[in-house]
Amino acid sequence: MNFLVTGGAGFIGSAVCRHLCANPAYRVTNLDKLTYAGNLASLRPIENAHNYRFEQADIRDERAVLAILRRDDIDVVMNLAAESHVDRSIDGPGAFIETNIVGTYRILNAALEYWRGLSEERKAGFRFHHVSTDEVFGDLPFDGGMFVEETPYAPSSPYSASKAASDHLVRAWHETYGLPVVLSNCSNNYGPYHFPEKLIPLVILNALDEKPLPVYGAGANVRDWLFVEDHARALELVATRGRPGESYNVGGNSERTNLGVVEAICALLDLRRPRAGGKRYRELIGFVTDRPGHDRRYAIDASKIARELGWTPKENFDSGLARTVDWYLDNKWWWGPIREQRYAGERLGHGSVAKSRPSPIESSPAGYAAESRKATT
Ligand code: NAD
Ligand code: DAU
Repeated sequence: MNFLVTGGAGFIGSAVCRHLCANPAYRVTNLDKLTYAGNLASLRPIENAHNYRFEQADIRDERAVLAILRRDDIDVVMNLAAESHVDRSIDGPGAFIETNIVGTYRILNAALEYWRGLSEERKAGFRFHHVSTDEVFGDLPFDGGMFVEETPYAPSSPYSASKAASDHLVRAWHETYGLPVVLSNCSNNYGPYHFPEKLIPLVILNALDEKPLPVYGAGANVRDWLFVEDHARALELVATRGRPGESYNVGGNSERTNLGVVEAICALLDLRRPRAGGKRYRELIGFVTDRPGHDRRYAIDASKIARELGWTPKENFDSGLARTVDWYLDNKWWWGPIREQRYAGERLGHGSVAKSRPSPIESSPAGYAAESRKATT
């Protein structure tokens, strides 16, 4: 089976490439533009594998994508290429519209043209798998509700709005043109090779540098955390065994407040790399201005993928976070150049027209109940 993974030099895409290449029956082409977030060092474990090849290209380049689909006789496209950071989407939404919406439109066109030229048998087996996010469902109240596949879309940020738009395009290409698509919407990934603009790697590396650990607002926002290797296994199943036209929610069953996550990292570092003079890492925590439009909580009901595809996460948050912290302690060769040359950890996404959401203290349970209409319990 021949895979085209787009965005394969990114955090999740590189985990998918490493995972797929372990199967000698698969051949993997990684197509990536190599933006600030793309890093070929994340592919080092497979760069010489017989079943792996890399192609630098932009998913908006329809002709280039079509040529690669034909040259490599692709059976499955896994579309992970995207601008992925909410804070950057607040500072500069244009790139998100370009890659996440226009790029998805163009790669869908290329896939459709390629698919139409296949034999009937190969047409039936072909899949276009679009990798999306739980953020398309929007803001959940603190006190209940989970996202199911049927939860209405209500994105809050330029990033999540652009991902929602791309999901709609993918569905439309299925309904209108018959392209065999599958979608997956997952929660916050974490693990090795995570670009240090996102909360967990940023906090680990700031702590090691004795820099402040920035917690937005009161740190009460809740995310569900999914270990990236568990996600890669889920994506393989969705791409190869998912039912065309369907979407699958993927989650780690590990809801944590942001403050809880930061404190857990500090506690692990206290054990593994104690600070001088008996100081504790949690002393570096600082509360900073909240993110504009900051969704309070995300929670995933992943029972469909468990029931239909037999997937459940292997890692719990404690074991996954310990593996992650250990990986950053052992792999400065990977993150050192990024912190020095690409992104040193400065605050992104302040915005100036924040539409603030109520904090848990300010809001009444009745208020949450009224807002929970978006979520299915
Ligand atoms: P990432 O930012 O680490 O990587 C994105 C990759 O896409 C980079 O290698 C980049 O070079 C490449 N890219 C960007 N624009 C491109 C273009 N126009 N053409 C080709 N390549 C391009 O992102 P990630 O965290 O690995 O996320 C991968 C996918 O999963 C995204 O679609 C994201 O929306 C989705 N997702 C991520 C998470 C998460 O927690 N990280 C959760 C849910 C969904
Ligand atoms: O839910 C899935 C999404 O998870 C993906 O679609 C996105 O691509 C991915 O980036 C991630 O989005 P988040 O915005 O949830 O991730 P981030 O790591 O940026 O932030 C996690 C939480 O931590 C969020 O509530 C904001 C907060 N935060 C973040 C940073 C960077 C802080 O408190 N301090 C920080 O410095």
